[in-house]
Amino acid sequence: MSTPLAQRAAHVIAQVSPDAPADFVLRREIGTDPDLDSVEKRALTGAVFAFFRWFAWLDTTDALPRRVLAALDLQKRFDADPAAIKPEALAALALPPWALASLDFPSPEARLAYLRQLQRPPSLWIRPQREFAASIARALRHTAPADFGSPSLGFRPADSTPAPTALRYTGPSDLFKAEEFKKGLFEIQDLASQIVGHACAPLPTETWWDACCGEGGKTLHLSDLMDNKGVIWATDRHTGRLATLRKRAGRAQAFNYRAVTWNGGPFLPTKTKFDGILVDAPCSGVGTWQRNPHARWTLTETDIRELFAIQLQLLENTHKALKPGGRLVYAVCTITRQETTEVVRAFSAAHPELEPITLLGQTAPAADGLFLWPHELDANGMFLAAWRKR
Ligand SMILES: C[S@@+](CC[C@H](N)C(=O)[O-])C[C@H]1O[C@@H](n2cnc3c(N)ncnc32)[C@H](O)[C@@H]1O
Repeated sequence: MSTPLAQRAAHVIAQVSPDAPADFVLRREIGTDPDLDSVEKRALTGAVFAFFRWFAWLDTTDALPRRVLAALDLQKRFDADPAAIKPEALAALALPPWALASLDFPSPEARLAYLRQLQRPPSLWIRPQREFAASIARALRHTAPADFGSPSLGFRPADSTPAPTALRYTGPSDLFKAEEFKKGLFEIQDLASQIVGHACAPLPTETWWDACCGEGGKTLHLSDLMDNKGVIWATDRHTGRLATLRKRAGRAQAFNYRAVTWNGGPFLPTKTKFDGILVDAPCSGVGTWQRNPHARWTLTETDIRELFAIQLQLLENTHKALKPGGRLVYAVCTITRQETTEVVRAFSAAHPELEPITLLGQTAPAADGLFLWPHELDANGMFLAAWRKR
């Protein structure tokens, strides 16, 4: 038997395609129905994402609403007891086999923990402006700080809080409607992305280049960490994204940036030399597959190969703008071998003048970069590496 929720979710899923991803169709559906309250929105989002999370378990001969119900049932069973779904089934069905083969886990336990994390609904993270962190936590009420207790994260105890102001939001409200959001006092930003800003550790006296700034998630964080001082060049190939960045910066009262279009090529947007360059490169987004399960079924191995080349090229083009002693930070919200360690090894081998450096008090060997695993942070998967110009 179908339900109105399953029918509505099926209506959304029927519009999803590689050109119209699930999150886009959902936003459109929710945005054009003023009658949906926040509980209904959350239920619809949950049902659509459960469908794509359990996609390979579902019987394709069933009608869509029936498959949605089957997915919700699997989600309920898994949430009550993750062991109810066999590890072999998770490994075979939660993501395409070629994708699993492109991930290098530190241990078999980490592999299973990752697979289980993939099947959980994701946490919602916010980044308050530093000055307002305490008051935002009080105002939103249902918040908790991040937990970095996992020893395998490799942070030294003294540096065990790589994102001191990050808050997990567990309440029922639509945060986009909160007064504090409208005033720009906080952003919705995944914990792993917030760690990237802290890894850059920019100083108010410095000049930074956020080379792939997109809509400015990290530019705004860098600006806050720099107390709205110094200068950040924010570039992206998409002018529309820069327009959104300007809007967000206006809301957050961030003024220490210059937004300029740059296509990623060898002609740099400025002759300025930088204390720090962040290359938050375009990537496969495999690290976001818990939050965006539809993407598991649209990515191909060819995409990964092409992205490797683009990522390497962006590092090649940007590092020339470093000052002596300047830092180059590479970040990707993916954890595939090709886009992480392979990029870093190829780039390091070609650039002995750049010294690999550790980040955030990390104890692991510098040359290997830093993996932020979804199951350890309850957040997106992310990879970071950094070099200093000798
Ligand atoms: C991971 S996203 C950036 C996210 C952004 N830094 C943030 O924190 O919100 C990567 C960005 O790189 C841009 N991009 C893609 N290919 C590029 C290229 N070849 N050169 C420069 N930017 C590129 C995309 O437009 C996209 O906005």
